[in-house]
Amino acid sequence: MNIVTAKGLIKDYGGLRAVDNIEFEITRGECFGFLGPNGAGKTTTMSIIFCFMPPTSGTVRVFDIDVTEDPGIIKSRTGVMPQDDNLDPDLSVFENLTVYARYFDIAKRDSAAVAWKLLDFIELREKANVTIKSLSGGMKRRLLLARALMNRPELLIMDEPTTGLDPRSRHSVWDNLNHLKANKTTLILTTHYMEEAEKLCDRVAIMDAGKIVTTDTPEHLVNTHGVNLEEVYLKLTGRKLVTD
Ligand SMILES: Nc1ncnc2c1ncn2[C@@H]1O[C@H](COP(=O)(O)OP(=O)(O)O)[C@@H](O)[C@H]1O
Ligand SMILES: [Mg+2]
Repeated sequence: MNIVTAKGLIKDYGGLRAVDNIEFEITRGECFGFLGPNGAGKTTTMSIIFCFMPPTSGTVRVFDIDVTEDPGIIKSRTGVMPQDDNLDPDLSVFENLTVYARYFDIAKRDSAAVAWKLLDFIELREKANVTIKSLSGGMKRRLLLARALMNRPELLIMDEPTTGLDPRSRHSVWDNLNHLKANKTTLILTTHYMEEAEKLCDRVAIMDAGKIVTTDTPEHLVNTHGVNLEEVYLKLTGRKLVTD
């Protein structure tokens, strides 16, 4: 069964077409990546899948439910890791997890147990009682990941999970994501890192200016179009994918 199916998806912001008639299908247990530079329409696409805003036209179904029909059910079964850090600076690391759990009607005692488990998963147990501002960038990203997992989601949506991180922190997030993959969580991520797409994604949709240029496995893209994904991107879009 498809976890996400998008057909003829369009999103306009006033006169700007941010997502321009795209289609994709994401199956259970898959890690699916949207690869493209800033402005390609990745965040807009993620926001629609997570029912944060409706499409201008076209349809998106998540768990075979239309995103405009029952956002509550979709959100309860999904975890989301936003592009920007929106952790609560007035709460401790631990409280950021347990307070978030209230959105999902998770009982207090259960949420504490889940929070400890997730702090172990992201190796941040010893930081449980510190404030957010004393965390490094990599620790914040891992905490955002843990928070997204509080409701034990079947589907995890991540918007640029490792952008701006140093290589060591990036690898530690990748280790976490590989664990989730092994446990059959469906993963959707956006990235402009070729290495991230190649290491994690079963399939990638190459995005450029609101359109999906092609969708394929990284391996097949490389075999068909170039020696690496960087070259593939250039060949398919005529543009260099800027990485930092
Ligand atoms: N809330 C908004 N209002 C107006 N324009 C927006 C808004 N959000 C994004 N855009 C524009 O839509 C396009 C796609 O943005 P976005 O989905 O954030 O792309 P990406 O995540 O790939 O960088 C960009 O041109 C961006 O400036
Ligand atoms: Mg974005």
